[in-house]
Amino acid sequence: MVEYKVGLVGCGHISGAHLRAWARTEGGRVQGVFDLNRELAEKRAREFKIATIYEELEQLIAECDVVDVCTPPQSHGRIARQVIAAGQRLVIEKPLVTDMADWEEMARLLAGSPDKITVIHNLKFSHSVQQARRWVHEGRIGRIIRVQREFLTSPEADRMLAGNSHWSHQLPGGRWFETLPHELYLTHYFAGPLELAGVSTAHTDQAPAGAPADEVIITLKNGQCLATIHFSANCRQNRRVFTVQGTEGTITVDILGDFATLTTSQDRRWKRSIGGVTLLASGATMLRWLPDRSRYFWRQLQGETPHTRIIRAFDEYLQGQGPVPTPLDEVDYVVRNCERIGREIDRQVAGGRVIG
Ligand SMILES: NC(=O)c1ccc[n+]([C@@H]2O[C@H](COP(=O)([O-])OP(=O)(O)OC[C@H]3O[C@@H](n4cnc5c(N)ncnc54)[C@H](O)[C@@H]3O)[C@@H](O)[C@H]2O)c1
Repeated sequence: MVEYKVGLVGCGHISGAHLRAWARTEGGRVQGVFDLNRELAEKRAREFKIATIYEELEQLIAECDVVDVCTPPQSHGRIARQVIAAGQRLVIEKPLVTDMADWEEMARLLAGSPDKITVIHNLKFSHSVQQARRWVHEGRIGRIIRVQREFLTSPEADRMLAGNSHWSHQLPGGRWFETLPHELYLTHYFAGPLELAGVSTAHTDQAPAGAPADEVIITLKNGQCLATIHFSANCRQNRRVFTVQGTEGTITVDILGDFATLTTSQDRRWKRSIGGVTLLASGATMLRWLPDRSRYFWRQLQGETPHTRIIRAFDEYLQGQGPVPTPLDEVDYVVRNCERIGREIDRQVAGGRVIG
């Protein structure tokens, strides 16, 4: 077994999910933590019985084999370059960087060892997305022709949109840039790399500070498939849904409920009279509901989350038991499109081309 020391940087909101995940790996042992806010580092160290609270990032990098970065994205570029230049492995939260120049410099440093970086593209490892992927591989929905992502929320439901001081408001495109990697790697996971075709924004009189473009639709495409991503800061439903449309059926993934549904029922005249494909699909979903939820709750009871699964996948890779969790082409695709979309949203808001 390969054993290695992990140092965690940034002890805020998401760090707990990472520390719980490292405790479930075969080879990773958290050696110490570092945060600019020492009180937060002390709190996490007490909670997870971690021996060392580092005073300096440089010392953590020198003493740990793997550096796990959970700081806001604005600081990622500088920390990541230091880790890679020191020759250590990097596990880092999305968005990887806010600036293409940082990624290009990192990619240059990574040349020859592209497996030194894992970006936390955790939703790929969620229960429902894995189920959706199995259905696609089994050919249940035919050829994928359309991917649609809805992230429709409001300041009441979304801690990052609330108020006017969250760090995500300073990102390119505001708060949307924080979640955009999820949308892009999910699209890539199902439909492969697509070209950015357009960004449309609206600025209503309800726009919160964190989302000056409070309605955004992004379109991506290739010769086979069209994809859209819709962000809204105005929707009280807090709807986070991902739909994969194939030539033979539809998969709908409710990201918050972590539940996937499959509809393959085809239109027939007699079906219309009993309520159509919607009614038949609901029946099929109800039959799946109990076994799926039993599996889901069993995993929840065991403390399994998308974060534990992606960090375990990283550990399995180090043990020689699996592939890298986030291949470089996926990372590159996400970083490049995030930057282009974020800058385009800012350009439209600043240029006054938004509808409002
Ligand atoms: N994958 C997911 O599902 C998911 C969910 C939430 C957050 N995130 C990502 O995790 C990262 C952190 O988000 P969060 O919500 O935990 O933020 P947070 O603000 O709660 O925590 C960030 C912590 O980093 C510390 N920090 C800031 N700059 C630092 C630096 N240069 N060196 C050391 N410490 C520093 C802060 O003091 C703070 O404690 C972001 O990139 C965010 O997008 C991912």
